[in-house]
Amino acid sequence: MSPVAGDRSVRVVEVGPRDGLQNERVFIDTDAKVRFVETLADAGLRDIEVSSFVHPRAVPQLQDAEAVFAALRPRDDVRYSALVPNLRGLERALLVQDRGGAKLAEIAVFTGSTDSFVGKNIRMTIAESLERFAPVVPAAIAAGLTVRGYVSTAFGCPYEGAVEPEQGIRVAEALFALGCREVSIGDTIGVGTPGAVHRWMRAAEGRLPVDRLAMHFHDTRGQALANVLAALEHGVRVFDASAGGLGGCPYAPGASGNLATEDLVYCLHGSGWETGIDLSRLVGASRSIAGQLDHILPGRVFQAERVRGVPEDAGVQR
Ligand code: HMG
Ligand code: MG
Repeated sequence: MSPVAGDRSVRVVEVGPRDGLQNERVFIDTDAKVRFVETLADAGLRDIEVSSFVHPRAVPQLQDAEAVFAALRPRDDVRYSALVPNLRGLERALLVQDRGGAKLAEIAVFTGSTDSFVGKNIRMTIAESLERFAPVVPAAIAAGLTVRGYVSTAFGCPYEGAVEPEQGIRVAEALFALGCREVSIGDTIGVGTPGAVHRWMRAAEGRLPVDRLAMHFHDTRGQALANVLAALEHGVRVFDASAGGLGGCPYAPGASGNLATEDLVYCLHGSGWETGIDLSRLVGASRSIAGQLDHILPGRVFQAERVRGVPEDAGVQR
């Protein structure tokens, strides 16, 4: 099914609290994480990836996932989610859900297009990861959660180099077959270009439902916004982004932050797309986490606007 003609809305999935913070050197305390998530929700983000139920030794920065969810104010208008790699992760997610129903609405299972990356990231092959998810997805759905899937290294792998679209498409098909409501295609190390996105999307045409695809671009080589514009041409209407451009992946050397949410929103609003996000408040949310970090947030719009605030009509096309 294609998106409705004339519909100018784009859904932004905020991954900063998870993909962003997982890579920070200094441990961000739980209160600051909770404040960050809540200010993002106040800015109009309706899908927020809050944390990960992974092994605490694999990602120490997110070892307080339970505590973050326990402190979050429940909101029916926001879909809060968390990464889950296996049944143990799901058990932890379900305990959180039991303690405060409305808070956790979705889990995300994650694999990739190359065995080398998946091996380093979750210590299994792609085939094993799909076997591992097979009982997780229906159990999560039975518990009232929705499930998102991730396909990393879709445009290139830090260990194997070039990746053919076919490799990621096959994994995305398998994730849909397991019951994922949406699959996010990840350019984990930010090597994709608009040309590569066009090639990927043409290869996926007729095989993957475009209205259930998201794109997850890291901005390592400055291509992420151009890649979004390319994906929009093919009907993709969901993009992952990270406030202030926080982020990276600890198991992908050289992966820098995701596309900054402010840069995405500024570009979309200026090009006639609607997101429901208040850019000024979003900058405020990034400012709230920026003070906790030992480095400057790289987002370009965040850098430009953090001091003076964003004018009401910034970027709006007339
Ligand atoms: P493993 O060591 O193979 O796990 O790790 P295992 O099943 O053999 O279990 C070993 C021990 O870990 C057991 O404890 C388990 O209970 C425990 P023991 O019995 O020995 O005391 N364990 C757990 N504890 C807590 N939570 C769990 C859990 N699972 C097992 N969920 C595992 C395999 C997948 C767990 C590990 O490798 C892991 O947690 N990896 C996470 C890596 C990660 O989070 N990477 C970053 C996110 S991916 C990303 O950033 C890409 C993305 O943004 C998209 C893109 O950019 O492309 C999504
Ligand atoms: Mg990522």
